[in-house]
Order: sequence, then C-alpha cells, then structure tokens
Amino acid sequence: MINEIRAKSLGYVYKVIRTLSKYFIFRLSKGKQNQPDLESVINFGDSILDLIPFKPTLFNFSIPKKNKVSVYDLEFPSPFIVSSFKMHSSSLQMWSSMGAGSVIVKTILPDVSLGNSRPRIQEVDWNGKPHILNAMGLPGPGISSFISTIQDWDWLKKLNRPVGISIGGHSSHDYFESIKKIESCSFNFTYFYELNISCPNTPDGANLSKHVDQLDALLRDLRQITNRVISVKLSPAQTNKEIKSYGNLLSSYDRMIVNVGNTRPTERNVVGLSELQFTRPVAGLSGPALIERTREMVRELKSVNVPVIATGGISTASDIYNLKSDGADLFGMATSLVFNPFILVELNKRF
Ligand SMILES: Cc1cc2nc3c(=O)[nH]c(=O)nc-3n(C[C@H](O)[C@H](O)[C@H](O)COP(=O)(O)O)c2cc1C
Repeated sequence: MINEIRAKSLGYVYKVIRTLSKYFIFRLSKGKQNQPDLESVINFGDSILDLIPFKPTLFNFSIPKKNKVSVYDLEFPSPFIVSSFKMHSSSLQMWSSMGAGSVIVKTILPDVSLGNSRPRIQEVDWNGKPHILNAMGLPGPGISSFISTIQDWDWLKKLNRPVGISIGGHSSHDYFESIKKIESCSFNFTYFYELNISCPNTPDGANLSKHVDQLDALLRDLRQITNRVISVKLSPAQTNKEIKSYGNLLSSYDRMIVNVGNTRPTERNVVGLSELQFTRPVAGLSGPALIERTREMVRELKSVNVPVIATGGISTASDIYNLKSDGADLFGMATSLVFNPFILVELNKRF
C-alpha cells in the first residue's frame, strides 16, 4: 500500500516536471524562432535525472517473487522489459530499480553514428492518446566505445538480472563483427543479444527482415562463436506469413527468442506533422496504436516453438493479460515508460 502511494506520488511529480519542461523548452525554442523539438526536452530530463541523489533508494520498488520468468538459463525477476530505445545509464538504472525484469540497451552500430537530422522525434496525438514518432536513425558511439562505456556501469554488476545488448548493422557482416568483438571481452553481468533487423530509420536497418535466408546464414555463423541467447526483433510491417517463417527459422536454432516488434513505419503527415516539425517523411510510430498488431503477431507465433517478447503499444494491465493469453512470455515497453515510468510498479503488482 505504502509503495503504491509512493509510486503514484512520484509518478505525479514525474508528469508535472515533464509537462513543465516541455512547455518551457518549446516556448524558448519558439522565442528563438526555432522549431520545438522533443529531443531537447528528453536531453534536459536526462540531465535532471543524473542530478537526483540516492536514485537506487528513491526509485526502489520490490518485485513480487511470483513474477519471475525463466527463459532458457536467463532468470527475469519480472516479465516487463525495457525495450531497446535508450542508452542513458541513469534512466536504465531507474527503470531496473522500479521493477523492470531486464533492460535492453539502445541498438549499437559498428561505427560512430550521428543519426538523422533534427527534429527527428516528436510526441503526437493519435486517437486521443499520446504516441511518439521517431526517426532517430540509431545515433550512437560505435561498438568499441560502447563496450568501454558499459564496462564502466558498475550498477549492472549488482543488477542480478539479464541485460539485453541490441546490435544493429548495415549488413550481416556488421552484426557478426560486433558480436565477435563483444565475445572477445569479459562483462561481469549476465546478458543476451538482440539483433535489431527492423529499424525503419536507417537506409538498410531492416534489410535482414526482408531476406530470411540471409538471417539464416548469419545465425549459422553466430552459432559458431556464441552460445548466448539471441533475440531477433521483427517489424510490425512484415506480413503474417513472414512473421511465421522468421519464427520457424528461429525455432530451428538453440536458445533463440523472437521479439515482435519494432516501431511501425508511418508517414509524418498522417500524424499531423509538417516538414518543419519533422525532417523525415516516414518514421517509426510507437505507442497504444500498435497493440492490436502486436497481439496479432504474437498469435501468429503460437504454434512456433520459440519464446516470445511482445513489444509495441503496451500501456495497461489488460494489454499484458491479453498478450499473455495470446502466448507472449515477456513484455517489452518503451513509449509508456516515457509517459509514466511508474507503470512498472503497477504492472508488477497486478501481474
Ligand atoms: C525514441 C525511440 C528510439 C528507439 N530506438 C530503438 C532502438 O535503438 N532499437 C530498437 O530495437 N528499437 C528502438 N525503438 C523501438 C522500441 O524499442 C519499441 O520496439 C517500439 O517503440 C514499440 O514499443 P512501444 O509502443 O512500447 O514504444 C525506439 C523507440 C523509440 C520511441
């Protein structure tokens, strides 16, 4: 009860700070004749979070023991997973303390990448509910720098739950080489890989989701160098037939997970954004509008013998209930955590 009140109060404070920051940063941009850009609000929020002391204590909420889910030898204390979208250490640590069973770190490319030009992320209203349109384009420091950074995150060593490392690439070779590099290091925390083969915001980020034979060849090569659990993240833009054939391919390898799925390719004008507000004509939509497609993909995989992470549109306890009935084992979330991270506390209580 006390924890619930604490979560509700902190959730309220979070929403107030978020709304005020957005309001003032957008007003400031307009005053300077700049286009309001959600990324500035996100960066500001991240800096505030970095400054908050005693985060592990302040945000610490226990997870009921019954929520534990085992997939192969990975033990997730709760089935709620922070989907790959963020590489900010304090945010990942905060979500873990709040009750995420795992965090999947933002997709990393082999080399330094600046991503697409800004504005490349905006909040949009869709059917009266807040969503996000993003075309970040996988900005990041590149695999070598990522390896040293993650080795410095001491909190990961005490985390006691699996961490997902999401790998992106321009070709099969890139995915292979990045994993080979990681395999040559020793991390002292438990981790699994996720192959992001469904990024809609880089020119070739979704190539492997169109060529099942190329993914097959890549998995064959990867199984020569690693026995770690590998999740493969598919796209809601793939057809049901493709989802099933990818699921079947994954079930023919050991220790695989299928994650359905990524953001949905959507035209900016469909969600009411102009060229000034968003540079790219097509980007990835995330949030509640995705839930029905996520459920459909999970059902498509029901007869396939591979554990399923359901990602896309989760925002309520009844979404979890439905996805579990559809056959999902784990539940990935991004957008709902941006709007209220304390949803993790409620979901853990009601699971
Ligand atoms: C700002 C943003 C950045 C994202 N970056 C990544 C990424 O780097 N790798 C990835 O696999 N998915 C990425 N995603 C997709 C999410 O992991 C998730 O699959 C998608 O948003 C659908 O879930 P949701 O409706 O709960 O947000 C990103 C999503 C957002 C909103």
